[in-house]
Order: sequence, then structure tokens, then C-alpha cells
Amino acid sequence: MAAVEQLEELRTTEFGRLDACGEVYLDYTGAGLYAQSQIDAHVALLRDSVFGNPHSVNPTSAAMTERVEQARAAVLAFFSASPDEYEAIFTPNATGALRLVGEAYPFHSGDRFLLTFDNHNSVNGIREFARARGADTTYVPSVAPDLRVDEAVLRRYLTNVGGDHHNLFAYPAQSNFSGLQHPLEWIDQAHEHGWDVLLDAAAFVPTNRLDLSKHNPDFVCLSFYKMFGWPTGVGALIARREALAKLERPWFSGGTIVAAFVQREYYQSAVGAAEFEDGTVNFLNLPAIEIGLAFLARIGMDQIHEHVHELTGRLLGILAELRHTSGAPATVVYGPSYVERRGGTIAFNFLHPDGRVVDERFVDRVAQKHSMSLRTGCFCNPGAGETAFTISRETLVGGEFGPGMTLDDYVEAIGLPSGGAVRASLGLPTNAADLDRFRAFAEEFIDVLDVPHDLPPRHGC
Ligand SMILES: Cc1ncc(COP(=O)(O)O)c(C=O)c1O
Repeated sequence: MAAVEQLEELRTTEFGRLDACGEVYLDYTGAGLYAQSQIDAHVALLRDSVFGNPHSVNPTSAAMTERVEQARAAVLAFFSASPDEYEAIFTPNATGALRLVGEAYPFHSGDRFLLTFDNHNSVNGIREFARARGADTTYVPSVAPDLRVDEAVLRRYLTNVGGDHHNLFAYPAQSNFSGLQHPLEWIDQAHEHGWDVLLDAAAFVPTNRLDLSKHNPDFVCLSFYKMFGWPTGVGALIARREALAKLERPWFSGGTIVAAFVQREYYQSAVGAAEFEDGTVNFLNLPAIEIGLAFLARIGMDQIHEHVHELTGRLLGILAELRHTSGAPATVVYGPSYVERRGGTIAFNFLHPDGRVVDERFVDRVAQKHSMSLRTGCFCNPGAGETAFTISRETLVGGEFGPGMTLDDYVEAIGLPSGGAVRASLGLPTNAADLDRFRAFAEEFIDVLDVPHDLPPRHGC
């Protein structure tokens, strides 16, 4: 069956609920959607088996342990990560994986934490661990309008290291704000100068192949619900064993030790993934990881990538063609407005005929009328937003966000034209009909001179 027909059929057989409910779902960077067969397989497994808490020798525990280890092996195999080199650690989400690295990375005074402006807040937050341990944090700027990094600037930062230090470089393989893809070649460049590399793959892996036999970041974080919708509550830190050995966990807990004593304050850490899995893992959901990965593998990541790539081009075309009667553009795209080196996440705003940005709360209102799920705001990626909206450091430092201030006060104080951008993101289930409905929704903004006065207050970014 031709690729397009196969995906069209999957839309009916596996994701039929989208059309049954009349929903246009364009928030795949927020969360992927699960296929019907994933749920059926998971429910059948739970219905027909008896599973106990893993890590014991009784039969139901042993059965569960086997499933957990099977899921772990499936994760490594999916990313072509050699078990000799990599370990897969289950976490509650990508943020949990990032926290594991941040809190245990052996930062000391004189060490460096280098990261791109374009990062999710769960990566930005690692700077607080770096700060507490006396390490310096440096940001590599994004450059408008494409929001890419100036590679000469990055090279300067990466080569400017001296002495015997632990230095960590963190960046996303794909921006959750603009969809742009940063080069995986940076990993080798950073390694050449002694950096450890933390690759945030959360927004990349749902529609791109990540091959850890070709690219060897030290730490990779992801959330499985972004890849295949179900289950929520499980992510992974995939880490090189050598890099894991450098980490200094700040505590121990049930599950992470071989032995601990009370009268003698001593504990012996477990080896491998167990040292990093606090308490009981989300064991009943772990078999669903294997099921989800097998679903993606059956379709093929290359085919999923091609499909999303093609639809992304069409969506960019719709946005570019949208004009007011005067001929003035009705949209502005933040980040690459072309399909090369980008994924299926597009950040944009609608524009009034006079060029002002349409208030994103009005966009939310119109989207609701069209049963359309989009995102508005800054998407937990303030650095990309600050560059996209050309907000300078001086503006931010001059207009402090203070206690009791609402986001609306702040938007006004620093003179922003809106509370953020609009984000549409595509996934495996997206089809041409979704884009037709998006076009009809977008056409509502043609020749709109102003927005209503009764828009709700903004509570958060
Ligand atoms: C690039 C990126 N990193 C990290 C995260 C955090 O993921 P989670 O909220 O599942 O921990 C997200 C979530 O949107 C993301 O897009």
C-alpha cells in the first residue's frame, strides 16, 4: 500500500476518534495521540495477567520485572543504543530525566554549564543546580529571524575551556517553540573539547529517527507520551554508562541501593539504571512503552518523518499565502519559514491589516469555535520567545517581574504586543483535511481590524 494511503487508513482505524469527535488536533508537541491498538494491547495485557511490584522473586513480581526489563531493552533498541554503551533509566517524564542530571552533575566552582537560548524551562532550570554548586552558566544566543545559533559563536564558547573541569552543554535536538532542528554534529564538536552533552530529544523523537549508534550524547531526555500518546507519566534518561558514573546522586531511596544501614550511616548504591530509579517505577505502564515503540516501528520513523515534513511545508504555505484584502500579510512565522532542518512545529502570530499582532487570546477564542487544539503563549521556552519578539536583556532587567504582578501587567510593562505566539504542531495522525480546516480557521483573521474587549486575563505564560 502506498505510504499516503496507509497513513490515511490508520487515521480511520487507529485515530478514528478524532473525526468521530470532530476535533482538529494540532498540538502534537504538547502531547502525541495514542493509537486504538496500543490501548487494546495494553488493556488485554493487564486484563489477562497478574503483575506484582517488580524486583522480588515471587512469580507475579518476577513476571513484572521481566516486562520492565523488556521495555528497557526495547527503548535502547529503538534508538540503536548499544547496551554496552548506554543505559535506559525510566523517569516520570523528560523533566524528571533532566532533574536527575542537573541535581547529580558534579558541578564545582570554575565548571561551566553552557546552553542555548532555545531551551525548555526544564533545561533552563538546571542553571539553578549549577549556580548552587558555584559553576558558571552561559547562554548561546539564537539569531532572528530563523532563530538558529550562530555556529561561529557556539564554536568560540565550546573551545574556550581550560583546566580539568566538568563542563556540560545542553541543547534541544528540535525546538519546542519554533520546530527548528539544531545540528546533532554539535555533539562531536563538544566532545572534542571535553564537554559532556545533554541532548533534549523530547520534541525531536516523535517524528524523527534518533540513532545513538551515530550520535553519542552523554545524556538524552524524552517523554513517551509525546512519541505515542500513551502512557503519560513515563519518560526516560538514556545515558552513556561512562557519563552516569560521573554523577553524584544527592540522596538514596528505596530501589536505588543494594544495602543501607541505620546504626552505621552507610549505603551502597545499586548499579546501572536502578541507582537512578527512585522508589517503585510506574510498572504497570511500562509494557505500554514497548507497545508504543512497536507501533511507531511498524509504520517506520522515516515514513512518519516524511509525512510530517510534507504537511509542514503545506502548513507553512497556508500561513505565507494568507493576506488581507489590502495585500498586507496576515501572519508572521517565528523561526524557519522553510521546511529544511526543521520539524513539524510552527510558531507564528496572526497580524491585523496594519501589522499589529492579533491578541493570542482572541486566537484561542476563534480556535475553540473551530474545535481546534493549538497552543498559545511562550511554550515554556522563554529564550526562543525573547529572541522571536526581540525583547532585550535591558528590557527584562528594567521591567522586573515582581510579586503580585499578573502576566497582563508584565506584558504591558515591557511593551509586548501580545502574550506570546500561536503554535501549531503536526504528528503522524495529521491529514490534509486537518490542514483544510486550519485554512478555514485562519481565514477568519483576514481583515480583522480589532479584537473584542472582553478577552480573559492572562494567568501564566
Ligand atoms: C523540548 C522539550 N523538552 C522538555 C519538555 C518537558 O517535557 P515533560 O513536561 O514531559 O517533562 C518538553 C515538553 O513540552 C519539551 O517540548
